[in-house]
Amino acid sequence: MAAALYDPDGGFFTSQSLRSVKAGDFLTSPEVSPLFGETLARFVDEELAGIVPPASGASVGGKVPQPEQSEGWSRGAFLVEVGAGSGSLLRPLLATLENPVDSWAVETSPAARQALAAFLPPAHVVPTIDDLPDRFSGVVLANELLDNLPVAVAVRTGDGWTERWVGVQDDALVLVPVEARPRVAGWAERFGLPAPERGLVEVQLAAGEWLQAALGRLEAGTVLVIDYGDTTENLEKRRVEGTLRTYRAHHLGPHPLDEPGQTDITVDVNFTALIDRAVQLGASVEYHRQDDFLNRLGLRARLSRLRHQELDLARHGDPIERLKVRSARTEAETLLHPRGLGDFRVLVARVR
Ligand SMILES: C[S@@+](CC[C@H](N)C(=O)[O-])C[C@H]1O[C@@H](n2cnc3c(N)ncnc32)[C@H](O)[C@@H]1O
Repeated sequence: MAAALYDPDGGFFTSQSLRSVKAGDFLTSPEVSPLFGETLARFVDEELAGIVPPASGASVGGKVPQPEQSEGWSRGAFLVEVGAGSGSLLRPLLATLENPVDSWAVETSPAARQALAAFLPPAHVVPTIDDLPDRFSGVVLANELLDNLPVAVAVRTGDGWTERWVGVQDDALVLVPVEARPRVAGWAERFGLPAPERGLVEVQLAAGEWLQAALGRLEAGTVLVIDYGDTTENLEKRRVEGTLRTYRAHHLGPHPLDEPGQTDITVDVNFTALIDRAVQLGASVEYHRQDDFLNRLGLRARLSRLRHQELDLARHGDPIERLKVRSARTEAETLLHPRGLGDFRVLVARVR
């Protein structure tokens, strides 16, 4: 999965095209509408207001930030989006924030980094989380990132676990049963039960490590993770076939071993495991559905205003303006759809 998605020569996300756009392979909330970023701006404003800026500022690799890197600092805090894609979340979010904040983007994809450097200082667009300042205060966002982090596949066998590794047979990639590594079996035992005999569990060690790396950089701040997935309990039914799958051109794609590098490989995120890791790291945690979360931040009220505007414009308004309002209204409904994007999960982990 790591090679198929991130190999520098031919990985799905490292190849030259931008993946998370309308013409690409999947459509995420920020690609559906700028209302997503505009709504999250309120969250970022609230979180930043609750953070005391560090006394000495942040350090970049142990060095004092260069003047151009400090440009725009208004609070001594950072906003970071990891897996920022085309910038469709950050751009409207930054335009809506009440107070500007020093912003960074972390992106594996060179094409996406190029798009992000068009509106962020180029020194603030970096390929890995390790390129961020060692310690800072602020907000770290990740929308539809953790579902793409490499997993191990564990199979329930008797009262234990085996693993499936990727091997080669007759020039083709195949899945090979092997004894489960202790860390993999340990994770599956904690977050993969109950599972039927031969049931599949995606073991999400890399997602936990990512959360640890993000929270570990924060002196004070908040990590916001939004993705598809659920709790261990609610994922139970998905443990027969597992949730590992591919997407291409907005549709389910071929088996993950077919055409590596040509498809988005993804799993449902296990939020119980993430919550557990955040709590172990001393964070306080909130867990929501995306529809509830966005509504609390004002999207329901915005939708209601758009509906009224649309009605007014239908009676005596400019038809072009009416079409614009109508399209914003349907976008807001898409973000809140209870069986679609509204059913995504939101984890807020705070350290103070
Ligand atoms: C599904 S896309 C989501 C993009 C954007 N967040 C959105 O919602 O439209 C996942 C993005 O994360 C990037 N990515 C994947 N793993 C990453 C990692 N470990 N660090 C930084 N970016 C990563 C990919 O290149 C891709 O642009």
